[in-house]
Amino acid sequence: MDHFRIHGGIPLHGTVTIGGAKNAALPMLSACVLTPQRCVLHGVPRLHDVDTMLKLLTHVGVQWERNGNGGATVNAQAEKIAASEAPYTIVKTMRASSMILGPLLARTGHARVSLPGGCAIGARPMDQHLKAFKEMGAEITIEEGNIAARADRLRGVEITFDMVTVTGTENVMMAAVLAEGQTILNNAAREPEVVALAEMLSQMGARVVGAGTARITIDGVEQLHGTEVTIIPDRIQAGTYLIAAAMTNGDVAVENCPLSHLEALQTKLTEAGARIEKSAPTATPTVRVVGPRKLRSVDITTAPFPGYATDLQAQWMAAMTIADGASAITETIFENRFMHVAELRRMGAEITVDGHTAIVKSVAKLSGAPLMATDLRASASLVLAALAAEGQSDIQRVYHIDRGYERIEEQLYSLGARIERVR
Ligand code: EPU
Repeated sequence: MDHFRIHGGIPLHGTVTIGGAKNAALPMLSACVLTPQRCVLHGVPRLHDVDTMLKLLTHVGVQWERNGNGGATVNAQAEKIAASEAPYTIVKTMRASSMILGPLLARTGHARVSLPGGCAIGARPMDQHLKAFKEMGAEITIEEGNIAARADRLRGVEITFDMVTVTGTENVMMAAVLAEGQTILNNAAREPEVVALAEMLSQMGARVVGAGTARITIDGVEQLHGTEVTIIPDRIQAGTYLIAAAMTNGDVAVENCPLSHLEALQTKLTEAGARIEKSAPTATPTVRVVGPRKLRSVDITTAPFPGYATDLQAQWMAAMTIADGASAITETIFENRFMHVAELRRMGAEITVDGHTAIVKSVAKLSGAPLMATDLRASASLVLAALAAEGQSDIQRVYHIDRGYERIEEQLYSLGARIERVR
């Protein structure tokens, strides 16, 4: 199994370019099921999770091909749905596959999707998705580990989510575009990926208003048509590189950086003493980050967008281990997202966990160690810690990181890091 070998202690310098966002690409690929016409998606990242979604599309009968620049364009056409289902073999490797439920149900009137189990970062139930589908008139049963959903045509209703759920908002929005009448989603997720999906659906002929606010209104239409879209840049990848540069006393230009999606991180980085410069006032400017000799400790609390992203919590913790002072890192989204703590401690970090809060006390330096990645963002934090540490780290189970970071070792290598993938 591949692992990363990193010799730390080198400030990162140079330019890195951000690719399309995984968490935007996944629902947008799933939305291709909503129309028999061709959808063309540009800037689709080459990631394991995207491959899993494409495998699922093949299973349901979608014809697709990757072409264009390094396979970054996906042409997908769901002329006929061969199997309105997502089997366990696929859902168990990626829980986001369950986002095919809404589109399949809306398109075919029935769907059978394996119920995802808990995962490394939490229990992550789907009750809010199912509650919404039921309110829209679907008959939902759980049979042999599968969600079986049936509704000749979903009806628009007003739904209030009990908590903010990103894929829940996306799944239900994709179903509502073909429902009869008006659906209103209250307490909807406001993440940029939700907005990107709503824009794609609108281009397909859907009537969606309010994406990016907590109240989304969808007027159902009879059918949708094909479209051509470009995936937005990955704010979590971009944020990871910004933190990496800041904590290694580096100087890095991040191209295609969606800084407007990273305001919470930008504020924290500035408070911590990093300098952030924007090239021009465009939606995706090049952003230069210059790290100080030593960062200052700054607290964070994760929250739904536009708050500080849970997907950047582990990386911030890595930075805080060597920042001046002590910081409190509070995780409010997932109940088990501190698995990187034990590994960071093995590198010499001083961290104590009390419930949802980790207190990180500064140490003079981290030292390289053999490490084990546990989930996608935890692995990113270990890579960052290893880049800043003295000596060699070997990070096992990097397949976690390949799910969400395109060629991270090549990108970091180009910034001067001593990192190699050992096969
Ligand atoms: N929740 C429920 N019931 C539901 C849905 C969610 O209790 O029906 C809970 C979850 O257990 C969690 C909270 O609500 O405690 C928020 O979960 P959410 O549904 O928003 O998470 P998600 O949609 O499953 C997406 C991203 C995650 C990201 C979270 C939060 C995708 C494919 N995944 O997950 O990304 O952490 O939103 O922003 O968009 C990652 O990329 O590493 C990743 C985990």
